[in-house]
Amino acid sequence: MTRTEIPDQLISTFNEFISSLLGLHFPHKRRQELVRGVTSAAQDLGFNDVLSFIYFVMSKELSQEQLGILTHHLTIGETYFFRDKKLFQALENHIIPQIVMSRRGRTRQHLRVWSAGCCTGEEPYSLAIAFDRVIPAPKDWRINILATDINEGFLQKARQGMYSEWSFRALPDHLKQKYFRQGDDCRFEISHDIRKMVTFSRLNLVDRTYPSPLTDTERMDVILCRNVLMYFAEEPRAQVVNRFCRSLAPGGWLVLSPSEGDFARHSGLVPVNFSGVTVFRKTVQDQTYPACASAAVRLPDHLQLQTTQLPININRYGEMPDHVKGRRPQTVSRPGKEADREAAKAKKPVGLPDIQVALPKDQTVSLDADSLACQARECADAGRLTEAGDWCRKAIQAEKLNPANYYLLSSILQEQGFMEASIKALKQAIYLDPGFVLAHVALGHITRGFGKLDDSLRHFQSALTLLKSMNSEDVLPYSDGLTVGHLVDLVRSMIPGE
Ligand SMILES: C[S@@+](CC[C@H](N)C(=O)[O-])C[C@H]1O[C@@H](n2cnc3c(N)ncnc32)[C@H](O)[C@@H]1O
Repeated sequence: MTRTEIPDQLISTFNEFISSLLGLHFPHKRRQELVRGVTSAAQDLGFNDVLSFIYFVMSKELSQEQLGILTHHLTIGETYFFRDKKLFQALENHIIPQIVMSRRGRTRQHLRVWSAGCCTGEEPYSLAIAFDRVIPAPKDWRINILATDINEGFLQKARQGMYSEWSFRALPDHLKQKYFRQGDDCRFEISHDIRKMVTFSRLNLVDRTYPSPLTDTERMDVILCRNVLMYFAEEPRAQVVNRFCRSLAPGGWLVLSPSEGDFARHSGLVPVNFSGVTVFRKTVQDQTYPACASAAVRLPDHLQLQTTQLPININRYGEMPDHVKGRRPQTVSRPGKEADREAAKAKKPVGLPDIQVALPKDQTVSLDADSLACQARECADAGRLTEAGDWCRKAIQAEKLNPANYYLLSSILQEQGFMEASIKALKQAIYLDPGFVLAHVALGHITRGFGKLDDSLRHFQSALTLLKSMNSEDVLPYSDGLTVGHLVDLVRSMIPGE
């Protein structure tokens, strides 16, 4: 490759572009790292000169694979087992016991944890070891540790679970002996019981793909994101913290590294100190429901869906059923008005779901279904879930046969912890459109969370079959920017042997 100087102005523009793409920010003193990284990425990807590579990246033509390679050259992959001893002490002595206590007496003992920016896996496996050490009978619990990173190369290494001595620099010998098996090549393999608690998946923290039932990033008890946000620009960092806050169950914990504590300034999070270690706890805001106790929560009557089957023709995903096309703005009446309620009933075709909308009395809204759904999404993004659910039910009333509205409602219900109602809404979406791939994926995750592994596999396999007939670079509607190829990767990681 010819050696080319990159003009200052261009590298500044590229820096801003990278920040919007990956969150990463290279301040002036680290500019040379950006130049080195992009130069070696260009080389790796077979470009003759770095300038044309920079323009190519900024034209947004990069495939997922190329993006992975660029990311590999720009990110730092330093990590090891039980990094930050004091933090793991706080987890083992305070945080995990508190969560265990809060689940006492429940039939389903379930824990959901997320290691975001997990690198080569040492962090999520350390968490799994910590849970195994603290929980009295780990086999009675369903412990799901989601481990995500943007770098597919790191994830592949993590899935292998083979580590060299350097990764054990902070792990006491007795733990190494208990949880690892020495291989033939001086490396050590993580034990099967620990490995099966962790699911690895690619996720770019800048994307709007969380919290979402598609990425299984909702209702987390603990989120660890350490030594990641320190490399981010201010704006994407604040957005990530806001999304983490939404991904946490009320009372859930956000853990950053000691030098990143300032980034957790968020109205929904309060700092809690355990012997010099500060972690952040989500306050109970919009809804009061116990973390991970969702299965036990009965949905209030006004939120219940009647899952009567719909006597209609169904189209494949992507093509809306004909009766949904060419929709016109409608007037939706608030249920507080008796006359309006009667009128709405009269319009309801036989067998359609009876979804009641709880909204303030004496107001009439003249919005079409798309605008109502848009309002619902905006409220959900702002964490106002009750309001989001109300708007969404109105969107459903305005357009009863659109599967996307049921899918949206299911996401909101899931964020609220109303899992059974969320499942019903997803089934309704699939009834309206059996090719609605997002609903299959969401059902796959939920049923897996309930330990129904056969059902889960069936949903993931249906999703994979549908996805295989699509173009991998296409963005899936209603997915907040997820491409078909990315979802294929996600779904494959859920199917053993794929
Ligand atoms: C220094 S490592 C931290 C590993 C581990 N959390 C720890 O503290 O030991 C930073 C990780 O963040 C990941 N990362 C950087 N930007 C990311 C992004 N936009 N989305 C997801 N992961 C990202 C990198 O790939 C890398 O694995």
